[in-house]
Amino acid sequence: MSIQWFPGHMTRAKRQIQDKLKLIDIAIELLDARVPLSSRNPMVDEILHGKPRLIVLNKSDLADPKTTEKWMTYFAHEGHECVSVDSSTGTKVGEIPIKAREILQDKINRQISKGINPRAVRGLIVGIPNVGKSTLINKLAGRSIAITGDRPGVTKGQQWIKVGTQMELLDTPGILWPKFEDQLVGFRLAMTGAIREQILNIDEIAYFAIKELADRYWPALQERYDLETPPSDIEDNQEIVRIMEDIGRRRGCLIGGGRVDLEKASGIILRDLRAGKLGRITLEAPYDNMPVRKK
Ligand code: G4P
Repeated sequence: MSIQWFPGHMTRAKRQIQDKLKLIDIAIELLDARVPLSSRNPMVDEILHGKPRLIVLNKSDLADPKTTEKWMTYFAHEGHECVSVDSSTGTKVGEIPIKAREILQDKINRQISKGINPRAVRGLIVGIPNVGKSTLINKLAGRSIAITGDRPGVTKGQQWIKVGTQMELLDTPGILWPKFEDQLVGFRLAMTGAIREQILNIDEIAYFAIKELADRYWPALQERYDLETPPSDIEDNQEIVRIMEDIGRRRGCLIGGGRVDLEKASGIILRDLRAGKLGRITLEAPYDNMPVRKK
């Protein structure tokens, strides 16, 4: 379900998370490893307000592993612990309770030294819609849990879900909004499937996808669709459309007069990209000149 985020929704979502923060020891900020910047809420530091935090790069099965490593280093420079996981299979999700405990170790040690028997670490998963919050909660819980839909404002009794013996999670994740006023962010989220096609035009999303892929992942694109010539200039609209048409022809998306059905070709391109058929692709890399916020 896609959310229409109006200022009132954002204020309510922020307040709901801040209410939940009072109950927990650590926030688990879930990002999409393919688009760690675009899937990040622009106000997350303000919202989490100094709460201990673990960053989790989800969908790492679909992301370029080398770039995921770079992102882990980037977030470490920012002062955050970070793990990369695949919530759909559960790969590496077991690192989450271990890392969470490590982050809180000083607090736990202080409790022990005062003779207090530390309880399980309490966590809250936060992230934008479709980043995989429900999937991760289910994997960590080891069972299927009915999780409230992606609508800020929906309230229900909060339950603690046991994750092994050392961690508990709130069953309702904190839903954050993306930085959607930035068009680039909108397109990148649409390419990965986080924003539904009803909001943006499918041809436009695929056009944008081909432009980004031709720039960063031409060999993957060439191999998947048996393409011959790369675009001479990725800023040239006609060159990008030519690639889309070539793909359409290769996939039999033809309409009368030998013309290519671009909408059909666009659907194929996006389905392939989202399903990882073009290989493991990351659309955003941390650059050396990126601002690094040290804690
Ligand atoms: P949300 O609660 O944050 O809104 O996200 P949710 O868990 O519903 O996950 C959104 C989609 O992402 C789901 O796809 C889910 O299976 C997929 N997903 C979550 N984590 C991972 C991961 O680590 N790897 C991969 N490959 N996929 C992941 P879906 O059920 O097919 O739903 P749809 O969005 O296609 O309708």
